Amino acid sequence: MKKCYLDNASTTQTKPASVYQAVNDTMQHNGCSPSRGGYGCAIEAGRKILDARSALARLFNVADSRYIVFTPGITWSINMVLLGLLKEGDHVITTSMEHNAVTRPLRCLEQEKQIEVSWVKANALGQIDPGQIEQEIRAKTRLILVNHASNIIGTILPLAEIAEISRRNKVLLMADCAQTAGYCDLDFQNLGLDILAFTGHKALYGPPGTGGMILSERAAREIKPVIQGGTGSSSASQLQPEMMPEKFESGTHNTPGIAGLGAGVKFVLDIGLENIRRHEQALLEQLVAGLREIPFVTIYYSGNTEKQVPTISITIENLDMGEASILLDERYGIMTRSGIHCAPISHQTIGTFPLGTIRLSIGYFNTPADISYTVQAITELAKEYNK
Ligand SMILES: Cc1ncc(COP(=O)(O)O)c(C=O)c1O
Repeated sequence: MKKCYLDNASTTQTKPASVYQAVNDTMQHNGCSPSRGGYGCAIEAGRKILDARSALARLFNVADSRYIVFTPGITWSINMVLLGLLKEGDHVITTSMEHNAVTRPLRCLEQEKQIEVSWVKANALGQIDPGQIEQEIRAKTRLILVNHASNIIGTILPLAEIAEISRRNKVLLMADCAQTAGYCDLDFQNLGLDILAFTGHKALYGPPGTGGMILSERAAREIKPVIQGGTGSSSASQLQPEMMPEKFESGTHNTPGIAGLGAGVKFVLDIGLENIRRHEQALLEQLVAGLREIPFVTIYYSGNTEKQVPTISITIENLDMGEASILLDERYGIMTRSGIHCAPISHQTIGTFPLGTIRLSIGYFNTPADISYTVQAITELAKEYNK
């Protein structure tokens, strides 16, 4: 049976060969603690981490790569910022299109630290007018936190305009770029963000358990390190160092993972964001055009395939979404994700809560043949359940 992976918004299953090689090489030849010893393989391990930091600095146009912090993924990055920044009485502005990586820590902080949160409501296409965010700003507003692109319908928020609002009002801005890093052109300096949070295993093609955040000088100064410990530097001190990136990078690094992430980022740089986008957008257009022709199928997306990431949702009449996803896999070898996709408030916003949707998300390794095969399979299922 043909295999067709359309769950790239969860994680990219196929990685470039260079990523496997980087992980393997590092495991075999650089298994020493980076920057923890003066011997060759420890120095080499440190160099691999530096290399990955430099590749990320090129991709995101970061002037000083010390402000790129490695974490085990964006969920960690977001939690590190929220827990290290917010104190009782602070106010946060976020949106109704967030992932649980944002919603859950914020709901907990609302209850336990009396943090106030304004949840700016998007329309059914996932769009938000930046003016809605500005209206919510008050004296106690400490942070604006937005999901750059929806992980269920792909809608991209106007980050540059939101950044302009945050700057004008001197409020810190964090962008959850889980779905846009490796797809959108994210220029950290020109956008003027305070915190760009990213994960490594999606469109950056790194291994799972990798990711990080890029901080402005102000954010690096104002966020407290919630994880503290050995950094291999300033070891005589019993206090966490203030210097970057050590302030936020305690404990032994995941060197093989970070080396793999570095290789993934270099792959993205070599292919070029524009070429990646051109390829995936063409597939997205093919998918939406094909699905539109199928009776009994409803498509949920931003309404404009040119202005979104290549992720959409669908529902099929008279068919449970969980069952549909299983049938797609068992009968056709098509891997999709069904349900709520860790984003209940997004589903409430677009009107698909609590049943959820089937999500189809495209990656660089998908082909036009994958898309026509998937459209054909969904056509057959929709017909079978709507006789
Ligand atoms: C928008 C968004 N934020 C956060 C996350 C969490 O990513 P991770 O599991 O890599 O920490 C995801 C993952 O699907 C996501 O789509």
